[in-house]
Amino acid sequence: MSSTRLKYVSLGVLVFQTTSLVLTMRYSRTLQGEGPRYLASSAVVSAELLKILTCVLLVYKDHSFSIRALNNVLTQEIINKPMDTLKLAIPSGIYTLQNNLLYVALSNLDAATYQVTYQLKILTTALFSVSMLGRRLGVYQWLSLLILMAGVALVQWPSDSSQAHEQLTTGSQFVGLMAVLVACCSSGFAGVYFEKILKETKQSVWVRNIQLGVFGLVFGLMGVFVYDGNRVREYGMFQGYNHLTWTVVALQALGGLVIAAVIKYADNILKGFATSLSIILSTLISYFWLQDFEPTR
Ligand code: C5P
Repeated sequence: MSSTRLKYVSLGVLVFQTTSLVLTMRYSRTLQGEGPRYLASSAVVSAELLKILTCVLLVYKDHSFSIRALNNVLTQEIINKPMDTLKLAIPSGIYTLQNNLLYVALSNLDAATYQVTYQLKILTTALFSVSMLGRRLGVYQWLSLLILMAGVALVQWPSDSSQAHEQLTTGSQFVGLMAVLVACCSSGFAGVYFEKILKETKQSVWVRNIQLGVFGLVFGLMGVFVYDGNRVREYGMFQGYNHLTWTVVALQALGGLVIAAVIKYADNILKGFATSLSIILSTLISYFWLQDFEPTR
């Protein structure tokens, strides 16, 4: 496939992936099953494992299904270049921190305010693209970024903010807001850092994703033991998993793969446009199909 086609295919798959992940998560949350709920920290680890396995398969395919060649690439690129591999610990650690910050944010802010504020990452991404990749944006491009950000924020603006904020104290809202703001910076930085590594070195995107995933797995397992160690000892790592949990895990793993492809073949700014399109799409599907959303006048 030509790289222009790959660019649009990867952006299209990202819109599909983000839309279906949001809708599946929403659906799985409304379904009340029996027994314990699945642990979010365990789902993160499962998605990371699935992502690594898929990337290993993709590298295997790229090397004409030869186990020997696969073994060579993985040894040479990952084990024999520890400094190169270690560079991926930076975006991986930042993504782990980001996922935790978003958890802090969601515990202290209502979902709508969180979503609106998190759109600021569109601007931080553009700023990091300009400063770290030397990208130049014209006046119209800056303007369209601002309009995009305002548009997405408006779509998600809480309809009755007084009600939404009822139980949240000013202090905890401040903590939540700070967490989102730091997450916006980390999202922009980690994305652009990964883009820089992908575009300035010649290793395949799948090898890079394995490196990123290995650190993600280590950090993720630490998360399981810190947050849910006792529960895992009691009911196991996969407590509460059902087919929907696996669907969410698979969609999350697909997300990691497709984000990497989008960053390689397009860029982080276009990624922002694609995920914004998916916010509009999921709002429409939620209204017309699931009858789950009442627009305000
Ligand atoms: O909000 P943002 O777009 O920064 O989120 C990106 C998400 O994609 C993070 O949760 C990160 O863990 C994930 N990711 C991934 N593989 C990549 C790049 C990002 O799983 N190569």
